[in-house]
Amino acid sequence: MSDRYALVGNPVGHSKSPRIHAEFARATGQDLDYGLIEAPLDGFAQTVEGFRAAGGRGLNVTLPFKQQAFALCTRVSERARLAGVANTLVLDQDLCDNTDGIGLVRDVSENLGFGLRNQNVLLLGAGGAAQGVIGALLEAGARRLVVANRTVPKAAALAERFAGISASSYEALAGEAFDVVINATSAGLSDESPLIPPSVIHGKTLAYEMVYGRDTPFLAAARRAGARVSDGLGMLVEQAAESFFLWRGVRPPTRAILASLRGA
Ligand code: ATR
Repeated sequence: MSDRYALVGNPVGHSKSPRIHAEFARATGQDLDYGLIEAPLDGFAQTVEGFRAAGGRGLNVTLPFKQQAFALCTRVSERARLAGVANTLVLDQDLCDNTDGIGLVRDVSENLGFGLRNQNVLLLGAGGAAQGVIGALLEAGARRLVVANRTVPKAAALAERFAGISASSYEALAGEAFDVVINATSAGLSDESPLIPPSVIHGKTLAYEMVYGRDTPFLAAARRAGARVSDGLGMLVEQAAESFFLWRGVRPPTRAILASLRGA
């Protein structure tokens, strides 16, 4: 029988992860099966235990369970500890990890060719999605990292946790300009955008939207400002590749599946 892996979330309906991991397995000659599990909102831990007891080898975790996944593990990787949220469980090692941050950094630096070293970076949002990528952005060598959020105390709490970042409101960014602006808010899912001043994004900015599969108001506004734009599909593929590497010890190629998901 193939080794079993899955994505746990609620909902998981339209996830592209099974297709991505099936392609990774094919490209690397690994024998595995990757499915989708919708866990009840009050039953994440039981779902993980059931999967492990049935011989499951590893899980990806998505909303709303990333915090619970982190709390569940006895061994926690350094980057998951920094993030405070986990998206990958290696069940036979009782290890939890976070591959979102490295996934974002690889997409920006390798797929988009935009080096982060010495860049002036603005991260919008202070929820789990933002928290999960701060450590990797700092490690990638950003010269300055500002976290801005509608609810400013949440950004301030992150700035206390991570040395080297500063917190801001959206309004206080007026007159400032950034090389890279990453939207880690969930505003795009309800066709809204964080209310950032127009100076922030200019013709040389990379505007990155973590949401994928829809043209959000953030992306539309960035395009109007002449910025280079990207959605989060590459981050999805790259975080999956890092999880696959943790589970299988083999690094899968990502370019072809990313191009095929984009319909190229
Ligand atoms: P996630 O795990 O996806 O980060 P979350 O923890 O609920 O989800 O955080 C959602 C983030 O999106 C928060 O930063 C939230 O801002 P607040 O902390 O002020 O609520 C942000 N967000 C959601 N909708 C938004 C909107 N319409 N405008 C601006 N920010 C928004």
